[in-house]
Amino acid sequence: MNDKIEKFPIGASILEVQQSIDPNPAYSRLQAEEPISWVPAFGMWYVTRYDDVIAVLRNTEHFVAGTPHSLLQDTFGIHMLTTEGAKQKRYKDAFRGAFSPMAVRSAMETTVHKLVNSLIDGFINHGEVELRTAFASRLPVQAILALFGLPLSEEPKLRLWYDDFEAALANFKWDSAVRGRAATAVVQFHDLIQHHIDIIRTEGGSDLLATTLADSRPGRLNDDEIKRNCGIIFFGGISTVEALILNTVFALLTHPEQLARVRSDKALLAKAIEETMRWVSPVQSATRHATKDCIFNGNALKAGDTVNCMLGAANRDPAKFPNPDMFDLDRSNAKQHLGFAIGDHFCLGSHLAKLEAAVAIETLLARLPGLRFAQDHKPKIVGFEFRQPKLMNLVWESVS
Ligand code: HEM
Repeated sequence: MNDKIEKFPIGASILEVQQSIDPNPAYSRLQAEEPISWVPAFGMWYVTRYDDVIAVLRNTEHFVAGTPHSLLQDTFGIHMLTTEGAKQKRYKDAFRGAFSPMAVRSAMETTVHKLVNSLIDGFINHGEVELRTAFASRLPVQAILALFGLPLSEEPKLRLWYDDFEAALANFKWDSAVRGRAATAVVQFHDLIQHHIDIIRTEGGSDLLATTLADSRPGRLNDDEIKRNCGIIFFGGISTVEALILNTVFALLTHPEQLARVRSDKALLAKAIEETMRWVSPVQSATRHATKDCIFNGNALKAGDTVNCMLGAANRDPAKFPNPDMFDLDRSNAKQHLGFAIGDHFCLGSHLAKLEAAVAIETLLARLPGLRFAQDHKPKIVGFEFRQPKLMNLVWESVS
């Protein structure tokens, strides 16, 4: 261990608190001097260069997402993000159709517009809003309910379960109370999904679960497999989308000239969202575990070692993205960011996430003229795994 600390001084200097405030200076030093580094504060390897992150994420023989010791597996069991190869493909394929760009658009576009407008109706007359609580944290929960064909009245329950899941995935001390709360929430979530499955079996339906149940191909999933995978689908689509919405609003309001361009040319909104994914990646890392002893770029990794692929760092790798700290609508390769990862575990919900963010931002800008940060309020982006502002107080011109 001491050997590693001596060999990787930059990694040894990394502290969670500093990472949470601003990880980018440390990422950039690591990329230049210790591209594969041992970080004792987290007990794991950090991989920060764009090409190296891709190499790890594409190498499922040496690096896997799930182990019995991972919090993800402990919380949600076996599902598409804790398996590899044929098993993972079978799980993911059962849902892939429902998450294709066309399916997402036809099943969700009108619904997302309705949800966004109704949330804005709730605060438009107040003249000010804290966007996270009133909007960005609620839309993804409501969108998931709609996707699963569940009533909006379940929103408070899902929110509480989500909070228990999030606590469990950050439970690095394996606190038994935190694990217990998440286990109870998983049982309750599965009961809700099972109830809905039973209804679909007698009455039919057209939502995500109905489509999955209608699958008649060999290898179709049984109810337990469906429920476990629904757990990770639900978990994957909440804080991530909240962060993308807030980070895009942050990026545009702090770059007024680029905001003006987006206002006058709607086609630029999609670019703004891709560039935000790169500039402030909502999910900063994808964690893998070495399956065997191996040498990776000259470093001896042991079987079982945790290897954290730093997506946020890769997205600011100057070798891939010149002037990486600049938010730039005209960046020609922004779409090549790794904010949704890459390889077999590439985000299943990326099209839904981008649809939610696009409808949210377009409608906020259209309905709240002169949208800006409240006086004396400059939101700060924080967090070492999920990065986003914790508060965003906004005001606008009221139209009478
Ligand atoms: C901006 C929003 C989002 C971001 C930044 C994001 C990011 C990611 C990343 C980085 C991964 C790969 C994790 C890894 O390889 O370890 C991932 C996987 C996944 N995401 Fe997302 N995600 C977002 C939205 C969503 C949404 C809306 C859903 C579903 C409703 C979703 C469902 C999933 C699932 C099920 C996986 C696992 C895929 C697999 O293992 O094959 N995500 N996401």
